[in-house]
Amino acid sequence: MKLIVESKKRYTITSALPYTNGRLHIGHLAGAYIPADIYARFKRITDNDVAYICGSDEHGVAISIRAKKENKTPKEIIDKYHALIKKSFEDFGISFDNYSRTSSKIHHETASEFFQFLNKKNCFEIKNSKQLYDPVENQFLADRFVEGECPHCGFEHAYGDQCENCGSSLSPEQLINPISKISGAKPVEKETTHWYLPLGEYENFIKTWFLKDKKDSAKSNVYGQVKSWIDQGLESRAITRDLDWGIPVPHKDGDGKVLYVWFDAPIGYISSTKEWAKNDNKDWELYWKDKNTKLIHFIGKDNIVFHCIIFPIILKAHGGYILPENIPANEFLNLEGEKFSTSKNWAIWIDEFLNDFPGMQDSLRYTLTVNAPETKDNDFTWKDFQARNNNELVAIFGNFINRVFVLTHKYYDGFVPESGDLDTVDTEILKRAYKMPILISEALDNYKFRQAINLLIDLSRLGNKYLAEEEPWKLYKLGNIERVKKIMYVSLQLCGLLSLLSEPFLPNASKKIRQILNIKETKWTELTFSNPVLKEKKQINKPYLIFRKIEDEEIKNQINKLNC
Ligand code: 2FM
Ligand code: ZN
Repeated sequence: MKLIVESKKRYTITSALPYTNGRLHIGHLAGAYIPADIYARFKRITDNDVAYICGSDEHGVAISIRAKKENKTPKEIIDKYHALIKKSFEDFGISFDNYSRTSSKIHHETASEFFQFLNKKNCFEIKNSKQLYDPVENQFLADRFVEGECPHCGFEHAYGDQCENCGSSLSPEQLINPISKISGAKPVEKETTHWYLPLGEYENFIKTWFLKDKKDSAKSNVYGQVKSWIDQGLESRAITRDLDWGIPVPHKDGDGKVLYVWFDAPIGYISSTKEWAKNDNKDWELYWKDKNTKLIHFIGKDNIVFHCIIFPIILKAHGGYILPENIPANEFLNLEGEKFSTSKNWAIWIDEFLNDFPGMQDSLRYTLTVNAPETKDNDFTWKDFQARNNNELVAIFGNFINRVFVLTHKYYDGFVPESGDLDTVDTEILKRAYKMPILISEALDNYKFRQAINLLIDLSRLGNKYLAEEEPWKLYKLGNIERVKKIMYVSLQLCGLLSLLSEPFLPNASKKIRQILNIKETKWTELTFSNPVLKEKKQINKPYLIFRKIEDEEIKNQINKLNC
């Protein structure tokens, strides 16, 4: 049985560009980074051409607000948080092919060219309107500079561009009882001119491209949100702002104006790809313009409208670009029953996690995947983290591998035994095991990460059950040497498979197990029943424990830390 991949495909995989206004926490990882990283690793190990792209989102009001709070310039803020975020991703092992930043020259040029191209094509409306203005600070109140009550759900702290409670996209004028976030003043209205993207003109395009053609492939949570947007009717959206931080509007009338952050940020995926291609001697256009390339955006649910409606409209209006194949947005992860909150310090910061649990990235990857907020919001608790690690990674996966390695050294000095003809029970086990690459691939191709990682654990469960039923240690004592050889041979093949199949999910464990087994990273497409992962007479290295138990004390400390 062989995993059939029709032919090598090209994938452009993106994770939402994080704002450089704070550190990364595990809620971020669960939403847009771990699933994308698993997917990118999966596509690489099934022999595809992958560009996994990300970068820092360094414009927008979120940055200016943080700068005011820390009494720094926006530039100082983005430099500080870009470095911290980039390091957290690296330390955690997210396998971006390129991590760029939207303050880069290449991004400013790319976004400016997009604007100029669309403007020349008459894709924008230029309109005067009255907008909220802070009479104390003498500045317009765009996006997060203003807060008020959401007209849709009544949430009292909706931003001027979005309500984080119900996900609606807003404009400042729609807020009830708006308040300036800069001075606390009640805003007045003042006339100004902006460039608008007439989304309504593209309603039929979105209806066909997304609502009709993606009905079966889109995740239901994503489809539902897009449908409700379309049902409400699409209105023109300003893609420029009266702000002093951002990409200056490249137009003779653009003085004092910048591009709206949600216009430039998704273009950041393209400029990051260009930067990578330049450094790696590749052709970036293949990854954005070739019809055979599949573009997949991994995001959190608050970004759905921008990736399913606005960015595709920008790409369509420009022409020549491919459109996303899928946008598998996750819902939100909560922490111990409450929303993550940077201001209340209700978060588990990645850098602190790695300090407190060095080398335990895979344990967190495992918990965040098995518990991923795939179709509904979900909760991370420290107790669940401990239980998942101790009862599943250590007690099932780690236990199986360790038992097999220890017995192999005890019985055969670490050499893979010659099995001779296998018994029916053995071939049945191997046949089931070699189906796993196919089953896991199917789950991942459908963005069912929870299902996929459960299949991986099922494979180690199968190994444990096989050992428990066959009891090679008893047979060895009884002198049934030939039968023991077959059992150990089969068990070692399962370990080999586990090491390769775990790569997308648990890359550190995968590497360690491969090093113990002395095997190279092998494409899943080469895994067949008739071509065993481990050859007879091959010697494996001395084993050590791949996972470690987490003690109650460690969890108690984390819970205390959270509450102080
Ligand atoms: O919501 C956010 O954190 C945004 N910075 C995501 C941007 S994604 C993309 F379009 F760049
Ligand atoms: Zn709302």
